[in-house]
Amino acid sequence: MLHDNITLGENGHLYFAGMDTVALAKKHGTPLYLIDENKIRENCRTYISCVKKYFGEKSIPLYASKALCYLDIYRILKEEGTGVDVVSGGELYTALKAGFPASLMFFHGNNKTNTEIDFAVKNDVGYFVVDNVEELEEVNATAARYGIKQNILLRLSPGIDPHTHKAVVTGSVDSKFGTAIETGQAMELTKYAISKSNIKLVGFHCHIGSQIFDHIPFSDAAKIMLAFIAKVQAETGVLVEMLNLGGGIGVRYIEEHPKVEMDSIFRSIKTEVDAFCQINNVKAPTILFEMGRYVSANAGMTLYTVGSFKTITGYKSYVSIDGGMPDNPRYALYQSPYTALIADRAGEKKTVVATIAGRCCESGDLIQENAPLQSCKKGDTLAVLVTGAYNYAMSSNYNRLPKPPIVSIYNKKDNVVVKRESYEDLCKNELATVNV
Ligand SMILES: Cc1ncc(COP(=O)(O)O)c(C=O)c1O
Repeated sequence: MLHDNITLGENGHLYFAGMDTVALAKKHGTPLYLIDENKIRENCRTYISCVKKYFGEKSIPLYASKALCYLDIYRILKEEGTGVDVVSGGELYTALKAGFPASLMFFHGNNKTNTEIDFAVKNDVGYFVVDNVEELEEVNATAARYGIKQNILLRLSPGIDPHTHKAVVTGSVDSKFGTAIETGQAMELTKYAISKSNIKLVGFHCHIGSQIFDHIPFSDAAKIMLAFIAKVQAETGVLVEMLNLGGGIGVRYIEEHPKVEMDSIFRSIKTEVDAFCQINNVKAPTILFEMGRYVSANAGMTLYTVGSFKTITGYKSYVSIDGGMPDNPRYALYQSPYTALIADRAGEKKTVVATIAGRCCESGDLIQENAPLQSCKKGDTLAVLVTGAYNYAMSSNYNRLPKPPIVSIYNKKDNVVVKRESYEDLCKNELATVNV
């Protein structure tokens, strides 16, 4: 199947991480997020070993919390020896509460609030990835208040289009993220950062987009960033220590997606970086990468129960499930492709083509349109594969649906790591109207 943790059991059921998904659906109820802890660890190890092999021991990959964030994941990340990127006070709080070392945290975001900046400085966050001049001034002022010098990287936009879907392209010049090199604004901001007394500029960051399957966009971004680093050194005398090239390594959601050759991607980036540095007489800083969906996407699967199957004569078929855009908004947002199966009969041929519809009052509440599926009926378990990234993390309570639990599987044992929300949970922050 798509990934080696997705298999077919002797009983014809779909197995995930060595466990029968139909039995898991029965035991824990649906909708249900499954997470394969062994796969998260394996993905971290592959990524870390490739990066260290080519970029050295100091090059510790950072996990992009936005892909999947809950307390227990930080235990795994800490044990695997990653750093983390956080993008909000909420992610930062979760990582701190889980005991993840603040010194290995990089705080991202294009509009961190003053409260979040204070919270991060107070908790000794290792690095801010500063987006703009207002943030730079606030971080400097906050660091001064706490009597420290805060390490920062500046987020720049190198102007690279990695030819992926527009909604996930973030490194081009016309972007809400970062400061453009092309316009000269990045150099201005750099000089301003260097002039601030409670800031230490340790490097630069860029993130060019997602679902990138080859090295070329990363190599191109690296060269633009290295040229900028050399220019900064020539104009200011400051040689930064870090270049963070962000995330974006692609994931196989459907058969048509290629398998990612991690070693080859990082080897090629390294070859191009070395050649560029040699020709241009540039000293390469420590190069960092961020791993988002690569770590968690194929470590996840979502199980639903089929409620109805209808065929509109002359049109198409719909299979309705007990979840939808509140637990996975990615198809509704940007038509993300997914693979789906009827877990009860996973070994059978896919003889049906149906649109998988969620249960919200929204005709765009779809998980996939015209998906090939095994024949199905009410009560079957429908599995959507490779949902470990940007599903739970993007989930909502739209239509007042409680969020599904996360069941983490480790060495063929299932543990609830996030409880299913109750109706009571939905009301917990709400105050009854007081009539006066
Ligand atoms: C700054 C930054 N780093 C890393 C990532 C992770 O990207 P991916 O999950 O595609 O690897 C993102 C995703 O948007 C990002 O914005």
